[in-house]
Amino acid sequence: MSSSHKILEKNISLMAIFIVLVISIGGAVEILPLIFGGHARTPAEGIKPYPALQLAGRDIFVREGCYNCHSQMIRPFRSETERYGPYSVAGESVYDRPFQWGSKRTGPDLARVGGRYSDDWHRIHLINPRDVVPESNMPGYPWLLEASVDGELVQKKMRALQTLGDPYSDEEIAAAPAAVDGRTEMQALIAYLQGLGRARSGR
Ligand code: HEC
Repeated sequence: MSSSHKILEKNISLMAIFIVLVISIGGAVEILPLIFGGHARTPAEGIKPYPALQLAGRDIFVREGCYNCHSQMIRPFRSETERYGPYSVAGESVYDRPFQWGSKRTGPDLARVGGRYSDDWHRIHLINPRDVVPESNMPGYPWLLEASVDGELVQKKMRALQTLGDPYSDEEIAAAPAAVDGRTEMQALIAYLQGLGRARSGR
C-alpha cells in the first residue's frame, strides 16, 4: 500500500472528507446535466400543463398509491414498444411534479393508456377490476364515485404551479373551479388516465 493511501486510511476525518468529495462528484455528474442540459425541462411536442380536471385526477392517482403497481415509463426496447407504444421521453414529464415513472409493475405500464379503453370501461374497472378482467388482483376504488372534486383547491394548485413556471394563463386558473364543478373524483381520475401519453401515442 502506498504511504499516502496509508495516511488516508488511518485518519478518519481525512477519509470522511474524501468520501464526501468522491460522492459529490458522482452526484454532480448525474444532477448537473439535468439542470443545464435543457432537454429534461423542455416540453416534448404537444405536451401542455394538465387541464384542471386532469390535474385533480393526477393527485388522486398519487393519493391512492396507483404508482405502487403501475409505472409510467416505457423503455426503449422492442418488447416494451410493441406492447405499450412509443417509448417515453423526458420532455413528456416536465409538468409532472413529482413524475410517476416508477419501475414496479404489478400491473401494466400506464404511460400510453389514454384512449385505449372507453370511459365506461375505466369506471367499471376502477369500481371492481374483476368485472372486466376476471383474473385481476387490482383493488377496487368505489369510494371515488362518492367524493367530489374541490374546485378551489385545484385553483390553488394551478396558481402554485404557475409560480413554479408552468405556463397556465390567468384565464385558465380563473376558470378552474367551473371546469371541475360537480365532477366526482372518479371522473377526474378517468380524465387523467384518458389523457396519458396521447401526445405521442397518436390515439
Ligand atoms: C395491487 C396492485 C395495483 C394497484 C394498487 C393498482 N393497480 Fe391497476 N392494475 C393492476 C393489475 C394487476 C392490472 C392488470 C389487470 C387488470 O386490468 O385489472 C391493472 C390494470 C390497470 C389498468 C388497465 C391497464 C391496461 O393497459 O390494460 C388501469 C387503467 C389501471 N390498472 C389503473 C389503476 C389506477 C388508476 C390505480 C389507482 C387508483 C390502480 N390501477 C391501482 C394492479 C394494480
